[in-house]
Amino acid sequence: MACMFNCFFTWWILLILAVMIGVKIYLFFTTGVCNSARRIDGKTAIVTGANTGIGKETAMDLAGRGAKVILACRDLDKGEQACKEIIAVTHNKQVEVRKLDLSSLESVRNFAKNILETEERLDILVNNAGAGGLRNVKSSDGLQMLMQVNHFAPFLLTCLLVGLLKKSAPSRIIMVSSLVHKYAKLEIDNLNFEKWFTHTQAYNCSKLANILVANELARKLKDTGVTVNSLHPGAVLSDIWRHWDKTYITVLKPIIRLYFKDCVEGAQTSVYLAVSEEVEGVTGKYFSDCKETKPSKDALDEGLAKKVWERSEELVGLTPEQMDL
Ligand SMILES: NC(=O)c1ccc[n+]([C@@H]2O[C@H](COP(=O)([O-])OP(=O)(O)OC[C@H]3O[C@@H](n4cnc5c(N)ncnc54)[C@H](OP(=O)(O)O)[C@@H]3O)[C@@H](O)[C@H]2O)c1
Ligand SMILES: *[C@@H]1O[C@H](CO)[C@@H](O)[C@H](O)[C@H]1NC(C)=O
Repeated sequence: MACMFNCFFTWWILLILAVMIGVKIYLFFTTGVCNSARRIDGKTAIVTGANTGIGKETAMDLAGRGAKVILACRDLDKGEQACKEIIAVTHNKQVEVRKLDLSSLESVRNFAKNILETEERLDILVNNAGAGGLRNVKSSDGLQMLMQVNHFAPFLLTCLLVGLLKKSAPSRIIMVSSLVHKYAKLEIDNLNFEKWFTHTQAYNCSKLANILVANELARKLKDTGVTVNSLHPGAVLSDIWRHWDKTYITVLKPIIRLYFKDCVEGAQTSVYLAVSEEVEGVTGKYFSDCKETKPSKDALDEGLAKKVWERSEELVGLTPEQMDL
């Protein structure tokens, strides 16, 4: 009897181990890597949220390829720290920090104005900054905070910089979205979450909005030499978990360590879309693991994209003259 129980138990353990190893091997072979060795000397890139996580590694890679890289950060001290580290590792001194706080549209406008005044060109814009776990509060602009940081502010920023990107064509805009966009049920009359709000749904919707904006902008910028693509970085062990429940994270940490990507791996698809020869001229597509893949049906809905675009224009107070499309 004891043996039967023990044997049964042993078999279960072996089975679980086999599955765990199998998954690990599968991930090892499917994790996308940007294989391009392309240098981008003389080009200028902006990476938002570049002080930590996926953004920092994206900036690190682009700096390593010779570009001038502007780290757009809300916390200048943390930004300077990352900047020093990137310069020390890459020996590229053309890395600098500028203030961008997405929770304030004024900060977005000031940042864009400063870029337009100081930069002759802009070749790569990586909209990477994003947040989860924020409380449901309104920003000073009267927008739902999570939607503003993840969608409205990056939308405004991109619109304000589009003229410079066009002038510098061929140039590339990259939107860091997420796989969770597939769970979004976006209601256009609740884009700003005034009717009802749940945290995960707002996050999921913000990430769907990223893809819809990328696709709509890709259509608007057809034949200008500016490409716009979106991506899922993978499940990445970054700082994004900082706001989540601590006990939860402690229990899950060993598993997260084993199966999640580190930030260098998490940056690969962003880097691929920013530099690779393979995606020259490719626009309005969604990528994961450095490969084009299909987003949800809603993400491909052109009518929905147009509505989200127009509603976002209204909500951020963007006038056609401010945008050189
Ligand atoms: N990690 C994942 O598994 C995963 C999966 C799918 C998609 N993503 C997406 O990947 C992107 C990067 O995330 P991550 O994992 O690298 O997260 P992270 O380590 O938390 O980094 C997020 C970055 O965004 C910045 N940020 C947050 N709020 C901001 C604001 N109001 N204004 C300006 N910058 C702000 C953060 O600055 P502070 O340091 O000052 O807070 C930080 O630099 C996000 O768009 C996220 O949605 C991540
Ligand atoms: C949002 O996506 C997550 C997957 O990350 C899912 O678990 C959650 O249920 C979704 N939220 C809603 C309200 O559908």
